[in-house]
Amino acid sequence: MGSAITGWGSALPDQIITNDDFAKRLDTSDQWITERTGIRERRWGGTTTELAIEAGAKALERAGLTGADIDLFILATTTPDQTIPATSSLIHHKLGLSGGGFDLNAACAGFTYAVVTADALLGVGHKRCLVIGSETLSKSLDKDDRTTAILFGDAAAAVVLEARDDHQLILSHDIGVDGSAFDLIVAEHGGFIKMEGKEVFRRAVRVEITSIEKVLDLAGVKPGDISLFVPHQANIRIIESVNEKVGLTMDQTAVVLDRTGNTSAASIPFALAEAADAGRLHEGDLVLLSGFGAGMTWASAIIRWGVVADQ
Ligand code: ACO
Repeated sequence: MGSAITGWGSALPDQIITNDDFAKRLDTSDQWITERTGIRERRWGGTTTELAIEAGAKALERAGLTGADIDLFILATTTPDQTIPATSSLIHHKLGLSGGGFDLNAACAGFTYAVVTADALLGVGHKRCLVIGSETLSKSLDKDDRTTAILFGDAAAAVVLEARDDHQLILSHDIGVDGSAFDLIVAEHGGFIKMEGKEVFRRAVRVEITSIEKVLDLAGVKPGDISLFVPHQANIRIIESVNEKVGLTMDQTAVVLDRTGNTSAASIPFALAEAADAGRLHEGDLVLLSGFGAGMTWASAIIRWGVVADQ
């Protein structure tokens, strides 16, 4: 038993924050932010629940389904709207979903963790799973801290996975966490994100290279066989360093961070949905997902794109 992605969708808040907006009130500049990160603007606003509902509804519509057709829901988020109950609960209700639902917090690796989890649960009898990555990192930012405020944005994106016996979605995967580095990115309850950016950068490049080489090897796939690389969208210099080392090109790579900033668990599905909408994905294409985040977590997977007709 395998699965296929049959729907996708995304959502962004309306409010655009440009680099110049920061330069007006902090000791920074559009040139510094663009050169050091690749980010030109990001969106702030809404709640994790609101953004998730918009993205989830679009993914259901694209798959030709209603909420009642779904029997499993995973919300990947590191910015839940409240501590109790899980944010997935209200989204489940508002979208009219059936079956179980839960939050999964693996920071920026969360979406890939969720896809691997969904595929496994479809393998034991579930039929259709909605996976949403939704984040409102702006609420955890010290807006006066130039080292973090410029980096993060709010967004959501969703996919529908359906069980199939004629399509294998996941060719290989690698998920991990190194809790000895948990203090490199931290937000206490009610507090702001604090990050040791330079060390995160170094580890991110290292861990992504190792993880990508592992999934390529497990699937018996070469970098040139990958139709689309969808990396976590944190910093264009991280993406370029990883690509150079593993032998992927920027033409193979989906980039949205210039317009979104780092949207944590929403970043990979957002870039995937944009690529799908732009017609960059075709039946049978191999897609590489890879991300890293607070924890420090990481996750990579090689998936086969294919929207198989309903059985
Ligand atoms: N504008 C101008 N100067 C700045 C800014 C800014 N916005 N931010 C920092 N600086 C200064 C620093 O204070 C420092 O000044 P100094 O030399 O006088 O001390 C100088 O610029 C260089 O700072 P670095 O931190 O060394 O800059 P670096 O090139 O490493 O870039 C950055 C910083 C962009 C944060 C980078 O390290 C990075 O992207 N790290 C990875 C972050 C990441 O990927 N996080 C993802 C996980 S998030 C999650 O899981 C939720």
